[in-house]
Amino acid sequence: MRGGLPQRHLWIMFYSMTTNLKVFLKTYGCQMNERDSEMVSALLQQAGFTITDRENSADIIIVNTCSVREKAEEKAVGKLRLLVAGRQKTRRQLIVGAVGCMVQRMKAEIFRKVPGLDFALGAGRLSAAGDAIKKVIAGQRPIIDVAAGKPACEADTHINGDVSAFINVLYGCNRHCSYCVVPEVRGSEWSRGAREIIAEADKLIQGGTKEITLLGQSILAYGRANEVWQNGEKSKKGFGEPFPRLLEALDSINGLKRLRFMSSHPSGCTKELALCLSELPTVCPHIHLPLQSGSDRILKLMNRGYTTEEYRAAVVRLRRLIPDLAVTTDIIVGFPSETKEDFELTRAFIKDIGFSNAFIFKYSPRPGTLAAGLNDDVSETEKLRRNHVILEEQNRHSLKMNRLLLGRECEVLVEGRSKRNPNRWSGRTDTNILAVFEKPAGCRPGELVRIKIDRAEPQTLYGTPR
Ligand code: SAH
Ligand code: SF4
Ligand code: F3S
Repeated sequence: MRGGLPQRHLWIMFYSMTTNLKVFLKTYGCQMNERDSEMVSALLQQAGFTITDRENSADIIIVNTCSVREKAEEKAVGKLRLLVAGRQKTRRQLIVGAVGCMVQRMKAEIFRKVPGLDFALGAGRLSAAGDAIKKVIAGQRPIIDVAAGKPACEADTHINGDVSAFINVLYGCNRHCSYCVVPEVRGSEWSRGAREIIAEADKLIQGGTKEITLLGQSILAYGRANEVWQNGEKSKKGFGEPFPRLLEALDSINGLKRLRFMSSHPSGCTKELALCLSELPTVCPHIHLPLQSGSDRILKLMNRGYTTEEYRAAVVRLRRLIPDLAVTTDIIVGFPSETKEDFELTRAFIKDIGFSNAFIFKYSPRPGTLAAGLNDDVSETEKLRRNHVILEEQNRHSLKMNRLLLGRECEVLVEGRSKRNPNRWSGRTDTNILAVFEKPAGCRPGELVRIKIDRAEPQTLYGTPR
């Protein structure tokens, strides 16, 4: 009893110290980072902190960082430096922390990049944010923890209460594409146990979530890596096609309206997956299938693990059962040694497949990757030109596809007020196109409504409720 008291006092002291402390989280990077930030927010709330969406009134600011391109790192470093400098000017007791992928990559070097930073936690150690803040408050700074780790219990860490929610199903990545830093910063691949995922989905749906997006860097590899986490233990498991089974189980949960997943790899686009997309009512007719390049020589240098023919065959296999399938993609322009001919192959291949949307990136060498050893020989101007060319062609194609919907009805999952025009409402079609419309009478976020499309832009549809 006597031995326990001081610790309890300390805890009570920290709890009362933290309840009035407001934390603001700034998130860069992908959907996985968005989900991680939500998890950290929930854990901090459980530890007694208050989460705020007003940066200026925060006592603690945490920047969740991305390392995928140099620009992403520059943005995060710039933001962190600004925060630390602002603190020096105002003499505010602001605590500034960096978490996530960039911290994992830079490790202690981040303190040289951002002198004055209070704490830095790697991509697997985000759940230690509360403890790190308490240590900083107690005078121990700077704090760094970049050990390989496993996220805290995911199920109780959803707080947004939104219509749509993300669920992590596969962590890390084993693909080792030659340009990519993700396997280094997120570690090797491991799958969460299906039971855990289903319980998490169940709880979200009971709480009002209507749409779930499953996340994994190469999600179709789910459950295949022979390493499955169940009840906190790593065990050897693995079934023939575990991902379609997971989709099937989630689809059967009462109350779920839409099920999505990302990102996919052609090797996982099997007939079984096609059957899931065509036959499971909640699974949306959309796949995000990053292509990266339409040149087989470049794909090989990228170590993507498929040829353009294999990619095409994957799309054909899916479209055979789901003719209206929306396929979106990622493209990298200006990879080392990419010639104008390689680029033209990419342009032609994009046209040939007909993507409903494409995200185009200029190649950015990442330290420690295989491609960083290759000569980054495409000039910045040429990368920019290639980027513009594809972007413009893709926009034209997206507009053409969207115009085909004019006068037709689409089903939209209502998300809430439109960000650009709060007088109107917005949601997404099952093919993941943003739709903006007048609020239907009595309609609430989370409902599926039918709208008649009367205007189309490359990225947005405008309509009237039926
Ligand atoms: N796991 C996903 C992609 C995650 S990163 C997948 O492979 O499908 C998101 C996108 O960033 C990638 O698809 C790729 O197009 C781009 N990207 C990754 N590393 C990059 C780099 N070094 N330079 C430019 N773009 C990059
Ligand atoms: Fe990176 Fe390739 Fe893994 Fe995607 S699949 S995260 S691009 S290594
Ligand atoms: Fe995502 Fe960027 Fe990390 S893309 S996994 S936040 S490096």
